[in-house]
Amino acid sequence: MDAISDIMAVVYDVAGIKLGDNKRSMVEARLGKRLRQLGCDLKAYAARLHRDDDEIIRCLDLMTTNHTAWKREPVHFDDLARRVLPEIQSRRLRIWCAAAATGEEPWTIALTVHQAIPDLAQWDAAILATDISTRALDVARNGRYSEERIVSLNAIERSVAVEKADDGERTWVVKPELRRLLTFARLNLMNDWPMRGPFDVIFCRNVMIYFDQPTQERLVNRLARLLAPGGTLYVGHSESLSAITHPLRSAGAATYVR
Ligand SMILES: C[S@@+](CC[C@H](N)C(=O)[O-])C[C@H]1O[C@@H](n2cnc3c(N)ncnc32)[C@H](O)[C@@H]1O
Repeated sequence: MDAISDIMAVVYDVAGIKLGDNKRSMVEARLGKRLRQLGCDLKAYAARLHRDDDEIIRCLDLMTTNHTAWKREPVHFDDLARRVLPEIQSRRLRIWCAAAATGEEPWTIALTVHQAIPDLAQWDAAILATDISTRALDVARNGRYSEERIVSLNAIERSVAVEKADDGERTWVVKPELRRLLTFARLNLMNDWPMRGPFDVIFCRNVMIYFDQPTQERLVNRLARLLAPGGTLYVGHSESLSAITHPLRSAGAATYVR
C-alpha cells in the first residue's frame, strides 16, 4: 500500500471518513504544512500515524471539512421552534448536536431555543455540542465570529445571539444567555458514547455524507436508540435515509421521528 492510501485507511478506520481515490491530491495538499513542520515525507508520516495517537488527532483536524453556517438549512430550526419545542410539557430539554464543527449550528440551536421559550429560565435545558475536530471545537467554544460569518442573522437574531467584541475588530461574540445552554466536548461518532440520553432532539447534519452506507446505518440506529420516544433526528438535506434500515419515521425534510 502506498503512503497516501495508508493515511486514508487510518482516517477511515478511526473516523469512518471515506476518502476515495479522487481525494488523494486533497490529502497531500492538506498534509503539506504538517509534513514541513515535522520534516518528514508521506511515508514517514504514515508510519508515525500507526504509533502516535496525538498525531491522529492532528491528522483528523486536517482531514475533516468543517464547512457550516449560522441558520444553515433553516427549515430545521423552524421545525424545532414550531413543532418540537411547543410539545415539550416537562420543561426538561436535552438536545445533542453531533457534528458541531466551528459552532454555528449549535449556537443557532441555542438561539432558536432562547427565542422560542419565553420562560426558559424555569426550564432545565441543555445542549451538548460535539465534534471529532479539536481545531473546530476551539472555534466553536470561543463563539467569536467575523461580521461575514453572521450575515445570515437578521437584526433581532443578532441582538439576541451576539454582541460586539471589544477588540476593535469587526468581530462578534456569542452572548452569555446562549453560552449558558451549551456544553462542548470532543467525540468521535465511531467510538463509544458516554451519554445515555434520552435526547429530545439530535442534529446530525452533513457528516454522514463522509461515511459509507454500513457506517451510516450503524450510526443512525445508534442515534435512534438515544432519542426519547417522539424525539426528532435532523440530518443534512442531502443525506436521505431511504437506502438504510432504521426504526424512525419521516416527518418532513431530512427530519425523522422516533
Ligand atoms: C461539514 S461539517 C458539518 C457541520 C454542521 N453539522 C452543519 O451541518 O453545518 C462536518 C463535521 O463532521 C465532523 N466529523 C467528521 N467525522 C466525524 C466523526 N467520526 N465523529 C464526529 N465528528 C465528525 C467534522 O469534524 C466536521 O466538523
